[in-house]
Amino acid sequence: MLCRIGNVQRCAAGLKPLLGIVASRQKHTLPDLPYDYGALEPHISAEIMQLHHSKHHATYVNNLNVTEEKYQEALAKGDVTTQVALQAALKFNGGGHINHTIFWTNLSPNGGGEPEGELMKVIQRDFGSFEKMKEKMSAATVAVQGSGWGWLGFDKENGRLRIAACANQDPLQGTTGLIPLLGIDVWEHAYYLQYKNVRPDYVKAIWNIINWENINERFKAAKK
Ligand SMILES: [Fe+2]
Repeated sequence: MLCRIGNVQRCAAGLKPLLGIVASRQKHTLPDLPYDYGALEPHISAEIMQLHHSKHHATYVNNLNVTEEKYQEALAKGDVTTQVALQAALKFNGGGHINHTIFWTNLSPNGGGEPEGELMKVIQRDFGSFEKMKEKMSAATVAVQGSGWGWLGFDKENGRLRIAACANQDPLQGTTGLIPLLGIDVWEHAYYLQYKNVRPDYVKAIWNIINWENINERFKAAKK
């Protein structure tokens, strides 16, 4: 379970944020999409969106709730062995819920174009230009081996933007410390029905529906 930042840095899985989730006994719920299933066509088909949201994301939510329940029971019993054994399921299903909840808001039928204001200035400062950032993030995302995510994240320690790639459902902040701004899901369930095995075409198309207002809001909140 490795998570890469840029080309070189690797880090071990961090479970702290997921362990934080289990402190709450509230059940997690599937968030509504802020648009219709067909609203992102022609870039992402309604069939993909419906399955992705109502089946895949819903399964992460259900399994996260089941895992948390087992974790609470193990906590109550002082059963550390079971707590440890549940951490992979917590990471996978908790990460799946966290990642997809961000992803839906990163997209919009009115998206595309370029960011404005300070976010654009910081992208230009950290990557040279908006186009270079897109190229770097696209390349890192397409290169994910198997299932995973490409990310634009904010490094709070030095105030800079970073590109990262995470395997499976490893959540960006829990595994790298970067605050997630924009995620691109490259699990096959996100594109295969429409793009088949041509992941680069899906990644190229998704820039047409990126919700830069949402990413700008996330950037402002991350800086605080
Ligand atoms: Fe997904």
